[in-house]
Amino acid sequence: MRKKVIAGNWKMNKVLSEANAFVEEVAEKAKINDSVETIVCAPYPYLASLVEKAKGSQVKISAQNMHFEENGAFTGEVSPVMLSDLGVTHVVLGHSERREYFAETDETVNKKTHAAFNHDLTPIVCVGETLEQREANETMNHVGNQVTKALEGLSNEQVAETIVAYEPIWAIGTGKTASSEDANEVCSHIRNVIKDITSDETAEKVVIQYGGSVKPANIKELLSQSDIDGALVGGASLEADSFLQLVEAGT
Ligand code: G3P
Repeated sequence: MRKKVIAGNWKMNKVLSEANAFVEEVAEKAKINDSVETIVCAPYPYLASLVEKAKGSQVKISAQNMHFEENGAFTGEVSPVMLSDLGVTHVVLGHSERREYFAETDETVNKKTHAAFNHDLTPIVCVGETLEQREANETMNHVGNQVTKALEGLSNEQVAETIVAYEPIWAIGTGKTASSEDANEVCSHIRNVIKDITSDETAEKVVIQYGGSVKPANIKELLSQSDIDGALVGGASLEADSFLQLVEAGT
């Protein structure tokens, strides 16, 4: 049985005092429950402090990106060595906003996925289609290609540990959530693509999240679907009480 993984992606929000207060509250209130994994994806400047605040609790701390190189002349970048050294456990890779605004490609996502495993970080690999691609019935082909390229060269054991987040771009920040049936159809396709490139056993272990206007009001129906094992949440994860409701829905 796959555990549920509920991750809050703060994006570029909060100041340090707010970030600390959030994790202190969630660390205190999130019931210890082995069936759900609770992850906060915070901006780089807060990671060290939040790892300390989360120690001994249910909460894991994730970065929202990283470089694939271990060190070097990459001004402004953050390496997997730095994140692992801080005690960060996960890293979001290939978010549509990084693909759109910061030239992230399937190739760099693949390099970063390998780098994550090389430094004991669990990758949360984001895939998803545009509205134009959905309307042109290109969703399955596009998302399938993104998954295949992101996972290229990984061992079956590494694929099994990877979290894939299906985030239809037209649902991100818009209030337009994909129907649970449509979301599950794509997540099932993602699992079938992973079966084709690895094995049935491996694909059954992969946690596949949905992201795109997830809220406490719609998360339970999404999590009831056969191939949706969690959520990657933006706006509704910014307040502690809302995030706690999302985590509770996963238990
Ligand atoms: O990474 C999660 C994010 O893209 C979803 O944002 O605000 O639609 O929940 P939101």
